[in-house]
Amino acid sequence: MKLSVIGTGYLGAVHAACMAELGFDVVGIDVDADKIATLQSGKAPFFEPDFEPILERNIAAGRLHFTTDFSAMADADVHFVCVGTPQAAGSLAADTRYVDSAIEEVARYAKAGSVVAGKSTVPVGTAARLQAKLDELSAHGIELAWNPEFLREGFAVEDTLHPDRIVIGVQGESAEGWLRQVYASMIAANTPFLVTDFPTAELVKVSANAFLATKISFINAMAEVCETVGGDVVALADAIGHDVRIGRRFLNAGIGFGGGCLPKDIRAFQARAAELGVEEAVAFLRDVDAVNMRRRSRVVELANEMLGGTVGKRIAVLGAAFKPNSDDVRDSPALDIASTLAEGGADVIIYDPEAMANALKRFPSLKTADSIEQALTGADAVLHLTEWKVFRDINPVEAKNLMNHAFMIDGRNALDLQAWRAAGFEAKALGRP
Ligand code: UGA
Repeated sequence: MKLSVIGTGYLGAVHAACMAELGFDVVGIDVDADKIATLQSGKAPFFEPDFEPILERNIAAGRLHFTTDFSAMADADVHFVCVGTPQAAGSLAADTRYVDSAIEEVARYAKAGSVVAGKSTVPVGTAARLQAKLDELSAHGIELAWNPEFLREGFAVEDTLHPDRIVIGVQGESAEGWLRQVYASMIAANTPFLVTDFPTAELVKVSANAFLATKISFINAMAEVCETVGGDVVALADAIGHDVRIGRRFLNAGIGFGGGCLPKDIRAFQARAAELGVEEAVAFLRDVDAVNMRRRSRVVELANEMLGGTVGKRIAVLGAAFKPNSDDVRDSPALDIASTLAEGGADVIIYDPEAMANALKRFPSLKTADSIEQALTGADAVLHLTEWKVFRDINPVEAKNLMNHAFMIDGRNALDLQAWRAAGFEAKALGRP
């Protein structure tokens, strides 16, 4: 069986390589010639653990290749649409134009009997619209399925090869048959395989991300309450997390969620709900977003309180990526806080093990360090904003020796506050006494 994957960002590139790893012949197609050249040379255009070996191995085996030529999909049996749906400029809604153009390319080149599986995160109702578009543009009666993706950056290979569920939304039977063949090894390994209609499949993805965002904002709201009453949100999360109905995962309070998915998806969900006349049903997502953004402001406030104003103060920011094990800085809380402090007149210097190049593309004027030591040297305060392991391993005594003043804020509740205090730091964290 031959597969094509249209769109080779985080999702598409990993999906293409993992499908080749399963033994399929795969072509990955993208309009971005630089990205395609990088992938075809066996190099990952982004930081993703475990991805490059799979990429290299499958290119070398001749099962995987990348091209900008859309006609290369002509002999594929299943086409996966993995293009981005970013937040539209000046609106909460998702911009679906890349999905539309991918479907137009499929209609132009796909052979009779082949099927399309949409994996991009789209507003509910998009699949039905795209199927109508395919029916109009292609004479072959090409069938569409919606097959949302639940991979996490940093665990993309593991999540693609060992998903906790596979969901497909279908209207006809041919797409389901093909996708059962694609995912046969996972189905044989007892991965739940759920077949739904189009709107349910689209909603599964959006509601899963909305739930995760809500869970994070819930614990961050509790952090706000803890800050007022002197409680400890980490102990609180541990305690409520023991209730299996609640669970401890995604209850880490701190500067909240960022990235290319959660923030964009809860906004697009609100925009779509308003179009459908059900905005009240998801009105709570406004608060989820607001709590999340308030946590970023809280760190800026704390830094000002600690330092008696931040103008001219040297602030070392540890972390630029939206989370560890990623070089993605899209809507990164760490970078947002760093740039807010810098714009407010602080002398900010930032270090991240993998995300410096992307951080500089986003904020070219940011001052960057080549190492943790360089960032800390002469700093008046250190802000820990992305919980990379190398930051947890910092020896606070050594940090203090490098710094000008011993102030620390842990924006991720991941450092050992007692150890930092024992080393002589005035150390604060979100939602903790
Ligand atoms: C998220 C979902 O977790 C995936 O299931 C989904 O497939 C993906 O979006 C997507 O839509 O493509 P991802 O954006 O890679 O994955 O990142 P997460 O691991 O969900 O983390 C999102 C943000 O929440 C990060 O900024 C992280 O630091 C923050 N977070 C996470 C917390 O602040 N607290 C937590 O307890 C957990």
